[in-house]
Amino acid sequence: MGIKKGQEIELTITDIAFGGKGLAKVEDFVIFVDRAITHDHVRAKIIKKKKKYADARILEILEPSPLRVKAPCLYNGFCGGCKWQSLNYNKQIEYKTKQVADAIRHIGLMDNVPVHQAIPSERIFGYRNKMEFSCSDRKWLMPDEFEGESIDAGFGLGLHVPGTFFKVIDIKECFLQPELGNSILDTIRGYIKESNVPVFGLRSHQGFWRFVVLRHSVFYDKWMVNLVTSTQDMSVVEPLARLLTERYPKISSVVNNITSRNAGVAVGEHEVLLAGEPYIKDKLRSYEFKISANSFFQTNTRGAEQLYTIVKEYARLTGSETVLDMYSGTGTIPLWLSDSAKEVIGIEIIESAVRDAEKNCINNNVENCRFILGDIRKTLPDISINPDVMIIDPPRVGMHKDVVEQVINIGPERIVYVSCNPSTLARDINLLREYYTVMEVQPVDMFPHTTHIESVTRLEKK
Ligand SMILES: C[S@@+](CC[C@H](N)C(=O)[O-])C[C@H]1O[C@@H](n2cnc3c(N)ncnc32)[C@H](O)[C@@H]1O
Repeated sequence: MGIKKGQEIELTITDIAFGGKGLAKVEDFVIFVDRAITHDHVRAKIIKKKKKYADARILEILEPSPLRVKAPCLYNGFCGGCKWQSLNYNKQIEYKTKQVADAIRHIGLMDNVPVHQAIPSERIFGYRNKMEFSCSDRKWLMPDEFEGESIDAGFGLGLHVPGTFFKVIDIKECFLQPELGNSILDTIRGYIKESNVPVFGLRSHQGFWRFVVLRHSVFYDKWMVNLVTSTQDMSVVEPLARLLTERYPKISSVVNNITSRNAGVAVGEHEVLLAGEPYIKDKLRSYEFKISANSFFQTNTRGAEQLYTIVKEYARLTGSETVLDMYSGTGTIPLWLSDSAKEVIGIEIIESAVRDAEKNCINNNVENCRFILGDIRKTLPDISINPDVMIIDPPRVGMHKDVVEQVINIGPERIVYVSCNPSTLARDINLLREYYTVMEVQPVDMFPHTTHIESVTRLEKK
């Protein structure tokens, strides 16, 4: 049977493919169906046809899979935030574990690496401590918004429709953040609407309001609001900061990041403090962290504790080791390991994160950690450190191949590789495998209802 673009077809989903799409086969021809689940029987439309596979979109679920659960979110099926809300959580864990194992086998080209079952997240809703919402001058309309006399297709504040950079769903309630975040977001939405100050057009690149980033401290139950705008205008943002702190005593910080760049990144070239403190404080076990608006901090606080527990276990420290923590962020891993190592040195590219990390050490009375500010690729060749253990926790893109070479040259006895992307993890450990044995991998689910999975890998020098 020839499959054609635009064709409507009935399919039975037999598995979930790498990346989270449902997989169906028609006479051995593979079709990936977005948002479909194993055992779903669907009517779908072919939206892309390639030589070896096709992509399809569900038109109708004819018979739902028994693995389906009712998704609480109104935007499920449209929003790119979390695609797996309708998949039973135990199954999510099973599929995520399989994704890591498959990546290591198919991309890493390694059989027989023990991949343990993913550790589930303690909380499966309201677990995110940071949410980034985009402003748009033309929102994506939900089906019910087409009803009624007048259609309001203007301003929206929310999350992107997957695969698009300019379609934003006006999110009234997001289940990934703690509940108060939704009220705060709604107050900001109301203010922006009334402000008569234009929203930044994602196509026109004109306008003022760009992003709203909310951060929540789990331990202190406090909030940080970061308003990202294209220019600085205190007469517009100051009254909003006042309104927010008066209405929500739990907001302890309001900052304004200003960016003139067109790129859709919620980071400013400079920052102005509007109310409270220029950071938010949170705790991981007994360690307290001050986190600035632009510093990286794991987005699932309880999940981070689980993750770092594995990192420490895999580092197998006795107290005498020198540890090099690459991509150290606000110094969370160095602090976590500090009581079991002689010294921990972090390297990080974002200046505010390095300053946060240094302050975090002082505030926690930790004296055996220090930090180097710089791009790892440029910094690593010049550092004269011989670490016994190296922790590597890169962004989603993984390590640059020059960095992999430098790691091999430095040659620590043990590497603990923390990754939020199984594909780049598998690619990188494949490059290391001539020199290191991959001993075990522990996936940790930090992102329930999304197809993302974090993992920790232990490598020992051959
Ligand atoms: C996944 S985060 C890990 C942070 C930290 N280990 C943690 O658990 O909170 C990756 C970090 O790498 C930093 N980074 C990205 N590219 C870098 C580079 N080329 N050199 C140094 N640091 C970099 C980012 O700023 C970010 O803080």
